[in-house]
Order: sequence, then C-alpha cells, then structure tokens
Amino acid sequence: MYSASEKRYEKMPFRRCGRSGLKLPAVSLGLWQNFGNKGVYANMEAMVHTAFDLGVTHFDLANNYGNPYNGSAEENFGRILHDMRHYRDEMIISTKAGYEMWPGPYGDRNGSRKYLTASLDQSLKRLGLEYVDIYYHHIFDPNTPLEETALALDNAVRQGKALYVGISNYGREQTAEILKIFKEMRTPFVVNQPSYSMLNRWIEDDSLDKFCIENGIGLAVFSPLYQGFLTNKYLNGVPKDSRVGRGETWIGNQLDEKMITRLNRLNDIAKSRGQTLSQMALAWVLHNEAVATVLIGASRPEQIAENVGCIDHLNFTEEEIESIEKILK
Ligand SMILES: NC(=O)c1ccc[n+]([C@@H]2O[C@H](COP(=O)([O-])OP(=O)(O)OC[C@H]3O[C@@H](n4cnc5c(N)ncnc54)[C@H](OP(=O)(O)O)[C@@H]3O)[C@@H](O)[C@H]2O)c1
Repeated sequence: MYSASEKRYEKMPFRRCGRSGLKLPAVSLGLWQNFGNKGVYANMEAMVHTAFDLGVTHFDLANNYGNPYNGSAEENFGRILHDMRHYRDEMIISTKAGYEMWPGPYGDRNGSRKYLTASLDQSLKRLGLEYVDIYYHHIFDPNTPLEETALALDNAVRQGKALYVGISNYGREQTAEILKIFKEMRTPFVVNQPSYSMLNRWIEDDSLDKFCIENGIGLAVFSPLYQGFLTNKYLNGVPKDSRVGRGETWIGNQLDEKMITRLNRLNDIAKSRGQTLSQMALAWVLHNEAVATVLIGASRPEQIAENVGCIDHLNFTEEEIESIEKILK
C-alpha cells in the first residue's frame, strides 16, 4: 500500500481558484499523454506518487485521454487511485467531455446534455469514483445552445457527481455568455482551462485572463511548457525519445532554427536565475495573476520533480520580464 511523504505540504503553494473556496496547488499534473495502455504502468504509478509526494494534489483527466484507446488514462488512473484511496479527500480530480469519444452522434464532438451526462457516468466507472471534483466541458460547441451545456454541467453537481464545473477552450465572449447562465442557476462554476505559455499568449490577446480576474474565475492552464519546447530537451535539436521525436504532436514543425535559438536565449535567462528553462517557463505562467495552477504533463517522474522545483523561485524582476519579452517578440 502506497504511503505518501510526510513532507508533502511543506513547500507547495496553494492558490485560490478565482474567488471560490477551492485552493489548487501551483503545479498540477495532467494525464493527457503517457497514461494510456501504450505506456508502462509502473512508470505511470511512479509519476502520480512522485507528484503527490511533492504536494501536487490536483490531477487532470478527460474522457478521451489515453492511447491506444480513449478512456485508458482514466482506467489506469483509477487503478493507481485504488491504492491511494485513503488520500481521496486530499485530492482534486477533474475530468472532461466534449471531444469525439464513442461512435455515433451522441459520443461525437459536442456539448449536448445527452453526451455530457452519459460521459460522466462512464468516467466515474473507469475512475472507480463516486464523484469528481471538477467536471469540464472540453471545447465550445457552436451547435448546442449554451443553456443546454450549462444545464448538463449544473445537473452533474446537483446529482452529486461533481463538486465544481469548468469550461475549456472557450474564448472570452463564450465564457461571458455561459457565465450569465451559470449565475442564474447558482452553479459552482469556478475554473476555465485554456492553453497558455511563453510561446502561446492568446488569452492575453483575447483578454480572457483579465475577464476571469474581474469575474472571480480561476485559470488552470494547459501545455505551459508548450508540449516540452520550454525545457532543456530541444536546446540542441530533437532527441528521438521526445514528444516531437516520436511524432506525437502537431506543433513539431515549429521547432526550426529560429525557435531553437530563442529557446537557448530563454535558457540563458533561466540559468542566471538559478533555474532550469522549464522551471522559469512555469514561474512565468504563474506570474499572471489570473492563473491558479499550471497543468504540466510528463513522461517520467524526474520531469515532475524538476518542474515542481519552479516554486523555489516564482518572482521576476522588471528587467527579467523585459528581457524575456524582447526574446518572445
Ligand atoms: N483542455 C484541453 O484541451 C487540453 C489540451 C492539452 C492538454 N491539456 C491538459 O494539460 C496537461 C499538460 O499538457 P502537456 O502535456 O501538453 O503539457 P506540457 O507541460 O506543456 O508538456 C509536457 C511534456 O513536455 C515534456 N517535459 C515536461 N517536463 C520536462 C522536463 N523537465 N524536461 C524535459 N521534457 C519535459 C514531456 O514530453 P516528452 O518527455 O515526451 O518529450 C511532457 O510530456 C495535459 O496532461 C492535460 O491534462 C488539456
């Protein structure tokens, strides 16, 4: 039986998610990649235990995570959880539905009440849980009235199957629209999950971050390392054993010479701060006050330990921010 480190709460900062009562660890672990049946179970288990021992209490999933089949990440996480169930009340577990999941019109990419309701029941079964802490709609669906999506999420809470609800991949206007509906229903809508990193700043251009601050919604941001670009991994080219080297990402073609030069210049600043590039990239994202937590991914436990080390140096001088801005322009 797994026994967690007694020091797990000594260092990790917990940040309030918007104006809600929910506190999230500055660093959370996402299980999008490397937790499906294609991976090695012992490695997955070691990653979850390493994270939890370091104060990472939040684990982010979705119905479709897992390779070679959708749902296998939830199944594997459910198996890991079985041995950690005495820590259930120390954990925040989220899942989502919205992308293609099962054949036919009801498991297709959508935001219908039919899909969201059935999918949550499936997720709970795979995870072996009675409820999740956060249930998200995974991507805005222009073909379903937002009232319907909002009601399905609200019902999940009323049925005791989720404690809070969230949305992911929604822009500012879409967020504003669904917020109005959640307010009318008094739904505990506390979190928005967009992508955000030094190399992907659309939430600033859209003012989604400002909107969320003004309206008390926290951001749990995904791909904060731009799927691994913002680490030591690609500073000298593309290693075979990497997400880009394995051809597992659509952004691999952005890793040209110009990008590699830029990453090396950022790495010089990280070194001058006494950090690795991944630690600085995570600290930079956490520097945006809209952000409650960064959802990191990992392929091995050592990456989690390195990345959680960002919490040792979260603040930036004005000069550092300016130098980073110049490189990112
Ligand atoms: N809502 C959505 O639509 C959505 C979409 C995407 C992701 N997400 C969530 O966000 C989570 C994180 O996404 P992500 O995996 O793209 O995040 P990421 O943190 O930007 O990238 C993680 C990848 O970078 C590499 N890496 C991480 N730390 C490293 C280190 N210290 N040194 C070297 N390489 C390192 C690993 O890849 P390799 O070692 O394999 O190269 C790892 O799998 C997901 O698991 C999921 O929960 C949500």
